[in-house]
Amino acid sequence: MCGIVGYIGSQGAYDILIQGLKRLEYRGYDSAGVALVDTDGCLNVHKAHGKVANLESVAAMGNTNGTIGISHTRWATHGEPTDTNAHPHVSQTGEIALVHNGTIENYAVLKKALTDHGYTFRSETDTEVLVQLIQYIKDTTKCSLFEAVREALLQVEGAYAIAVIEKGDPDTLIAARKASPLVIGVGENETFIASDATPIIGYTDRVIYLKDNEIAVIKRGEPLSIMSLDSNEPSKIDIQKLKLSLAQLEKGGYDTFMLKEIFEQPATLRDCLRGRITDDGARVVLSGVELNKDKFLECERITLVACGTSWHAALIGKRLIQDFCRVPVEVEYASEFRYGNPVLGPKDVVISISQSGETADTLAAIQIAKEKGAFVYGVCNVVGASIPRNTDAGTYIHVGPEIGVASTKAFTGQVTVLTLLALALGQLRGVIDAEKVREVATALKAIPATIEETLKCDAEVQTLSRIFTYAHNFLYLGRGYNYPTALEGALKLKEISYIHAEGYPAAEMKHGPIALIDHEMPSVIIAPSDSLYDKIISNVQQVKSRGGAVVAIVSKGNTAMNDIADYCIEIPSVPECLTPLVASIPLQLLAYYIAVNKGKDVDQPRNLAKSVTVE
Ligand code: G6P
Repeated sequence: MCGIVGYIGSQGAYDILIQGLKRLEYRGYDSAGVALVDTDGCLNVHKAHGKVANLESVAAMGNTNGTIGISHTRWATHGEPTDTNAHPHVSQTGEIALVHNGTIENYAVLKKALTDHGYTFRSETDTEVLVQLIQYIKDTTKCSLFEAVREALLQVEGAYAIAVIEKGDPDTLIAARKASPLVIGVGENETFIASDATPIIGYTDRVIYLKDNEIAVIKRGEPLSIMSLDSNEPSKIDIQKLKLSLAQLEKGGYDTFMLKEIFEQPATLRDCLRGRITDDGARVVLSGVELNKDKFLECERITLVACGTSWHAALIGKRLIQDFCRVPVEVEYASEFRYGNPVLGPKDVVISISQSGETADTLAAIQIAKEKGAFVYGVCNVVGASIPRNTDAGTYIHVGPEIGVASTKAFTGQVTVLTLLALALGQLRGVIDAEKVREVATALKAIPATIEETLKCDAEVQTLSRIFTYAHNFLYLGRGYNYPTALEGALKLKEISYIHAEGYPAAEMKHGPIALIDHEMPSVIIAPSDSLYDKIISNVQQVKSRGGAVVAIVSKGNTAMNDIADYCIEIPSVPECLTPLVASIPLQLLAYYIAVNKGKDVDQPRNLAKSVTVE
């Protein structure tokens, strides 16, 4: 949520900052801004509402010189997305510029105190309070910018990743973080800071993940210095090597990142599965489980916590773990769990699922689980993100950077890892027989090829999408393993086409949503040939007899639905527990093409952000 990029070095900062912001636009894109200090020490600030492209048009008319600068792309929390509310914010005297990702919770108290000291505020943001506070401390105590930033941060409650520069000093960039991510890229005579590593790729592969409560002082020509905000003691500088490539951040010939990410699922799932199933398909090997056998053997309950699409993956994970491991499993929204006074102890395992590894509610849920003595396991995509660094152990999904805001390949990666985890735990606890492991693991190994096959429905789904482009409402129905698939299908449509869609357990439909069904309300029914197939057929009949159009997702060769549903999309047959992986493909495509038909920006849908680092 909000993206920050900063640069100090020998190159022109502006182009680097703009290019970096474009890579971070998935984090928010309602306004953007840049501040640079040129060689004469002048501070030049350019801001614009809307996307980074708007900022470029505005900045082109001004001074963009300088080899030091900070920049920001915003997802509004305090104040509307206007030019004035855009970052960087500048102190009243015009001397200090600051960009911020996070929320200053005690901003109202601080603002009142500063107002009493004669400060006036231009914007409605919490961020402006912080930059004014820094200026106030600097002026009243005559301290350095670093001292003032540090002192101000000690007075602030909330979450932040910030970058600060000062008029008259083209040689100093200050950055700090608490509960919002910040990465430092260490190049040859140049240093980058960013909310994630993507703006840094192509310049250097050496990065430092700033830790909570750390402040970095980056001075031209001097070694980087990182200190603890609380103790002011120097921190150990831990430089890590990035494994991302530029090609992973490009569209690769597709019109959008989302379409690229849908089509790369065979490849991403190959990466996700690599080395995790023995060649003979007889065993699943996850190092996070192997190294923590006692925790998984002792545990009496597993709780899955997540948000958004990751929560849908968690619902599938619950079924998988229950079926293969026979341990009680609960699934919680992280945002509810954290305030729900959960009953947890050392016999609990909490599994957090997150694509970004930065979701504020999921991070807070982890913290609570740890405080209560639970063993916390992470299923994450972004390597080195806050969640994997704050969990006791975990498994990466390894599907590569997901840039489209609507999650696709991360969802199938999460479900794949949860399937592996359920099998590994079932093996470990001796509750799943070898034959079942082999059957599921062998089918899972073949899932990349199965999804390749499934993607052949692309043209058919595109044609179908035209029939439904102007529907105002949709119902998505599924049962068992595919109730969460229905939720995910509905979420995809909502997110990118802005059509209202509801996911429901098919049998529950008759307790309410059936009242909505008429000829204007299409239903998408996920009906592979599984143990609940006969039951779902009667649910389809119930929809049809009320005049609703039905699109059914059915297993290849099963023609029984042809006479009942209006449209059938066939998917390859797989074991029941793997049907969500396959059935979600046509649902992703359907949402995608409906949104494209409506002319929507599928990669950057309105009001959403990929990484939600605020409550
Ligand atoms: C946002 C994204 C979703 C994502 C959710 C949870 O809402 O737009 O795609 O599912 O956050 O994010 P996480 O990174 O924790 O999976």
